[in-house]
Amino acid sequence: MNEEQRKDGQQAINPSDKKSDKDYSKYFETVYTPPSLKEAKKRGKEEVTYHHDFKIDERFQGMGRERNFYIRTYGCQMNEHDTEVMAGIFMALGYKAVHTPEEADVILLNTCAIRENAENKVFGELGFLKQLKRDNPNLLLGVCGCMSQEESVVNKILKSYHHVDMIFGTHNIHRLPEILNEAYLSKEMVVEVWSKEGDVIENLPKVRRGNIKAWVNIMYGCDKFCTYCIVPYTRGKERSRRPDEIIREVRHLAAQGYQEVTLLGQNVNAYGKDLDDMKYGLGELMDEIRHIGIPRVRFMTSHPRDFDDQLIEVLAKGGNLMDHIHLPVQSGSTDVLKIMARKYTREGYLELVRKIKAAIPNVTLTTDIIVGYPNETDEQFEETMSLYREVGFELAYTYIYSPREGTPAAKMVDNVPMEVKKARLQRLNALVNELAGESMKKYEGQVVDVLIEGESKKNPDVLAGYTSKSKLVNVKAPKSAIGKIIPVKITEAKTWSLDGEAVEIQKMAGVN
Ligand code: SAH
Ligand code: SF4
Ligand code: F3S
Repeated sequence: MNEEQRKDGQQAINPSDKKSDKDYSKYFETVYTPPSLKEAKKRGKEEVTYHHDFKIDERFQGMGRERNFYIRTYGCQMNEHDTEVMAGIFMALGYKAVHTPEEADVILLNTCAIRENAENKVFGELGFLKQLKRDNPNLLLGVCGCMSQEESVVNKILKSYHHVDMIFGTHNIHRLPEILNEAYLSKEMVVEVWSKEGDVIENLPKVRRGNIKAWVNIMYGCDKFCTYCIVPYTRGKERSRRPDEIIREVRHLAAQGYQEVTLLGQNVNAYGKDLDDMKYGLGELMDEIRHIGIPRVRFMTSHPRDFDDQLIEVLAKGGNLMDHIHLPVQSGSTDVLKIMARKYTREGYLELVRKIKAAIPNVTLTTDIIVGYPNETDEQFEETMSLYREVGFELAYTYIYSPREGTPAAKMVDNVPMEVKKARLQRLNALVNELAGESMKKYEGQVVDVLIEGESKKNPDVLAGYTSKSKLVNVKAPKSAIGKIIPVKITEAKTWSLDGEAVEIQKMAGVN
């Protein structure tokens, strides 16, 4: 599809029509650009182009004068980062950020499609926002993010959520000014969701949350197609940013005084595979970035499959490269991993863990696990339990498998009753808690470096921050410590957090 056709495609639906229960298929070809699962499945045929030419069209200058925006973000860091970009575009258009939907003239829900309950939350919120829209008919309401890439979601909104004004996809974020303009002019539902493989757009404005920690995309999309997962369909194909662009961004963050940078991607270990003109991977990138004056460097999320020796060697150099690796395993059973199409075995994963531990003896490993995959047997689940203990994970995000329309797993017959899945999750969570508690206990009496981020959510007299291993610490320290890495003596360990006191509080009081 070329640019002109796309523009033609992005048109509005007549509001009187959208309120009816008509068959919308007649719009599918002519009146708007809906997502297409079939298109999203294709890989490798479309060239990735790098754009440096984003600019706000003169027509839209001042569009946001006297107007406020509010973005609610669901899902992962990829979405959080997209929100930073959309906030940047809003500000460039003259809008002001507000903290509640009630104060806003434009509300965006930046959605996540990873599990059914993530989607249900968004539909619940859309129901709630209907009242705001009634009170203020000039309010614009938009749905973007991963859910908008799904055909079934767009159809459901068209059918039952007529108060939505705009739906746009993850490949359409840079078109926000055009989409807003269209929504203002027509007051009709604008749908613009490209199901393309994806481009890389370099010079989008962004407004970062906070000035202590920053997230930097190093790649976009995912080509792994794990059989349960919706992400390869919602985010397009794997495409890496050029190393010089990433390094420039990190240097800039260092110059601004950021203390921590997390390199982001669905699958960061595949970084560089698509850079045809150079042999350059995550290992090389980390090796360059560790020389930039940022005190803490992290990356997420790693896929075990592409975790190579070169990267392990670089991480072993330590320094500002943090000794915590999040390495999702999903299951401890080779048979289940095979059906999941994870492309590694239990033994392969354990071998990788052995290599990492040999190179970085003090490493902390955390993981993601899915229980109750279609037809998972008791024995297969037990293998997950035994692997968990064998690796000695310090934390895990655990989920009951949730079928996602359009993925291969959603078509599988599933003989595991929901009660069994829930019971497995409970047992796994008990193990996760046990090992998390044990790993925390070891800190009692020790002194650890903590990056202080601000006041604790529960008690403003206490500050909160994280260790190099991503453990939350509540610290008694003067406010002047915010934004700094300080030594903290741990006084008490809890299951999910540590309590501590700044070493040399007296000296700290002098810091400003
Ligand atoms: N790219 C990352 C994962 C991103 S999604 C990786 O491959 O490790 C975050 C986590 O959500 C996954 O690790 C998986 O544990 C979980 N997840 C993804 N799809 C799911 C589904 N359909 N049902 C339940 N959990 C799912
Ligand atoms: Fe989903 Fe697998 Fe890609 Fe992770 S690697 S985003 S789980 S398809
Ligand atoms: Fe959710 Fe999309 Fe992230 S599905 S987990 S927001 S990539």
